[in-house]
Amino acid sequence: MSRTAILETLIPEEDLKLDLLANYDKSVPHIIKYMGSKRNILDFVIEAINDAYQEGKLCDLFGGTSILSGALGKLIPIHSNDIQEYSAILAKTYLSNYEWNKYPSNILDEIVEKASKYIKSVKKKYPDLVFSYSENKTIKEFVELEKQQQELIKFNFDNLSHHLFIKYYSGTYWSYQQCLWIDALRKVADEYENTSIYYVILSSVTSTII
Ligand SMILES: C[S@@+](CC[C@H](N)C(=O)[O-])C[C@H]1O[C@@H](n2cnc3c(N)ncnc32)[C@H](O)[C@@H]1O
Repeated sequence: MSRTAILETLIPEEDLKLDLLANYDKSVPHIIKYMGSKRNILDFVIEAINDAYQEGKLCDLFGGTSILSGALGKLIPIHSNDIQEYSAILAKTYLSNYEWNKYPSNILDEIVEKASKYIKSVKKKYPDLVFSYSENKTIKEFVELEKQQQELIKFNFDNLSHHLFIKYYSGTYWSYQQCLWIDALRKVADEYENTSIYYVILSSVTSTII
């Protein structure tokens, strides 16, 4: 009997099946965390999938954070489904093919630079909107500073293309300055629409604000 034939006998086809549990991406970044996410029970879930999966597309129903797509997406084809857009953005971030050689090697700097430019232009347009956290503040002064920023909800930013956060969230969970960055990165994302970078930017911004 040839060596090959012995090997074929010793390794039944079943054992040649890709071991999803052993090979899934254990360091997959958890872009969004919330109660109900499968992140901490991935071993348990993937062990069950491993037992049942033969071939074809795996359907991740109620995908949510799409963490399953992130963990298994490079091993088997996955269809992620969820009623909400946020989940589609995360799934597309995890499941896109990235042809990084099509982008400049400093793509990250390029994105930050574009966002900085937008922030500069907004500051130039509204030089009076300055909210400084730099000095030591009493609680009362701090609360007052946040209230001043919350007043921006009455401000007319209509001549800015991207102002959702500075208008509605300044002085809430985020300062005016942080909101400027969120709006700016959202604007830059639009410049990359129809590329996989679009979803990466949206996911990154979402990840930092949640
Ligand atoms: C608790 S989350 C699932 C979390 C997911 N197991 C994970 O690991 O991230 C529930 C998800 O179900 C989605 N959902 C609820 N009703 C739905 C429906 N009728 N069709 C599709 N998705 C739905 C919600 O949008 C939400 O993202």
